[in-house]
Amino acid sequence: MNNKTVLITGAASGIGLEIAQAFLKADMNVAILDFSQTAIEEAKTQLSAFHQKCTFFACDVTKEPQFMDAIDAAIAQFGHIDILINNAGVQHIAPIEEFPSDTYRRLIDIMLIAPFLAIKKILPLMKEKGDGRIINMSSINGLIGFAGKAGYNSAKHGVIGLTKVAALEAAPFGVTINALCPGYVDTPLVRNQLEDLAKTRNVSLDRVLEEVIWPLVPQRRFLTVDEISDYCLFLSSPSAKGVTGQAIVIDGGYTTQ
Ligand SMILES: NC(=O)c1ccc[n+]([C@@H]2O[C@H](COP(=O)([O-])OP(=O)(O)OC[C@H]3O[C@@H](n4cnc5c(N)ncnc54)[C@H](O)[C@@H]3O)[C@@H](O)[C@H]2O)c1
Repeated sequence: MNNKTVLITGAASGIGLEIAQAFLKADMNVAILDFSQTAIEEAKTQLSAFHQKCTFFACDVTKEPQFMDAIDAAIAQFGHIDILINNAGVQHIAPIEEFPSDTYRRLIDIMLIAPFLAIKKILPLMKEKGDGRIINMSSINGLIGFAGKAGYNSAKHGVIGLTKVAALEAAPFGVTINALCPGYVDTPLVRNQLEDLAKTRNVSLDRVLEEVIWPLVPQRRFLTVDEISDYCLFLSSPSAKGVTGQAIVIDGGYTTQ
């Protein structure tokens, strides 16, 4: 799979960074887009061994011109985007009556509108080439409700709908489009959520795990980032050419209940 180029949003941290590393180890070119300059600097250090195959673009995916410019710059540098991974995401937890409307809009912008914009721009190029893979990072929160996560759940449900439509439109052209639905993965996004829960309930992190999280996860563990990046590699491989339009669940048994 070498000489392919993958563009990943939100790839300077957590799951996206692990995916970037996995594709670099598979000898692909990687364009990393992220709006956190601090995270980009840290990621540059972590990925320094791959600097020839890896480029960083500081960009906010909710700012359409900036986002489109970053995609153009990645195409100008590498010639083509073979694999697009819409991964950027944020969380905000509050009951609907206290959920700031601007925050709700921002979550939808980051996790639903931005994937739409990226697909709209890159899919025609993939169709023209007759080959391409798109992976949208949804969540188990794209399949089931979770009180307090109106913005996140709406965006993650929406991106599964977008995936299905885009997959149908792309199917005759050799392009596959799937959504991944991970359960709890050990990343800064999840750690911050747990700390917020512990603070709100005035209990220890261990107690939050025992009382809130593990009852929902039959395997009683967090997924690791490489379990997600391995799936992305598989979906990008020739073996997965028949898998499209799917919401693929990797959740330690969460949604079997
Ligand atoms: N961690 C989990 O348990 C879990 C589970 C299911 C789905 N997910 C999804 O996986 C994806 C990655 O999550 P993570 O846990 O690695 O989180 P993370 O916070 O470690 O990484 C998210 C990255 O997205 C970037 N980002 C956020 N808003 C952006 C914007 N407007 N423009 C550009 N970049 C932006 C952040 O700077 C950060 O680097 C998200 O879409 C998340 O919803 C995570």
